[in-house]
Amino acid sequence: MPVEQTEFQSDFSQLSSADEVADYTFLHKLPKIELHLHLEGSLEPELMFQLAARNQIDLPYASVEAVRAAYEFTNLQTFLDIYYQCAAVLQTEQDFYDLTWAYLAKCHEQNVMHVEPFFDPQTHTQRGIDIGIVVRGIDRALKDARDQFGMTSRLILCFLRHLSEKEATSCLAQMEPYLSYIHAVGLDSSELGHPPSKFERVFEIARSKGLLTVAHAGEEGPPMYIEEALELLKVSRIDHGVRCIESPVLMQTLVEKKIPLTVCPLSNIKLKVFETLTEHTILTLLDAGVCVTVNSDDPAFFGGYMEENLFALADELAMTRQQAVRLTCNAIEASFIGEHRRSQLLAALRQCLVDSAN
Ligand code: ADE
Ligand code: ZN
Repeated sequence: MPVEQTEFQSDFSQLSSADEVADYTFLHKLPKIELHLHLEGSLEPELMFQLAARNQIDLPYASVEAVRAAYEFTNLQTFLDIYYQCAAVLQTEQDFYDLTWAYLAKCHEQNVMHVEPFFDPQTHTQRGIDIGIVVRGIDRALKDARDQFGMTSRLILCFLRHLSEKEATSCLAQMEPYLSYIHAVGLDSSELGHPPSKFERVFEIARSKGLLTVAHAGEEGPPMYIEEALELLKVSRIDHGVRCIESPVLMQTLVEKKIPLTVCPLSNIKLKVFETLTEHTILTLLDAGVCVTVNSDDPAFFGGYMEENLFALADELAMTRQQAVRLTCNAIEASFIGEHRRSQLLAALRQCLVDSAN
């Protein structure tokens, strides 16, 4: 359960100056938590080519440069079309391990201490890959990161909302032997035309199995989708949620109920949710008391991991050190970790602030 915001937010605020724009060194050292990351979206073109060669798959691109050049999107759907195509190189347990490990190694370089990644099993089972292959490969990498980096994690299974609820229910049934590997279920893919209400029953089944719930809502979809996710799917967090700003009533609910939003600034620019980063509302939401957090979504496609997202906020929105610390506190509060690990992350944050003040 999220702890009382006031308990430590004010304490940490005293350790960071209110109006100093956060510099890259400070942001690099900041202990980070990532709560919105699609493992398939962390597939860098270099690894995609390696896996394609290993699995004898022809790619529709001549080179890594050609792949990167193709990453120009006009909305969520134009991205998803390429994203699902790229995921076809993932075939074996080792492929899923390598994908996950590459992401976790990058996190370690950037001082990310805790992650709650998503994976989309239906993208793979639809191609005839057994769900066990997917989940075992991912889990092995998460365990290795725990052993080698001390990095903790909570894995989240996402249902593809452009498919039917029946298919989501079948996906959950296939996961039955592996339920201990995941902590929550989520909802991603094409948002418009696929409201949260479409998945009310499968989310109820997931909750009856002891899983927590999250959902993408209010990325391209209207504020109503955020309300449905909260009321019908009983989510603990909203992924994206930036369109809440269009509804003052909803904003008030988010503040009062301390519902976290996992916001992804660079993603929102690449997918044209905002024209430019200077128009992004993340800091407006933060200053209005919404529990917003910074995340990378699909870093291989959107030009940056946690650190690059934070750097961009400092460059384009003059994010201060204090705002960066509040965003980090929010992520610690919003995470699904236990109290012991939460205290460790808060202690790491406090130490970072003491060190940077000297
Ligand atoms: N799947 C991967 N990235 C996504 C996003 N930004 N929105 C919805 N579904 C996704
Ligand atoms: Zn996402």
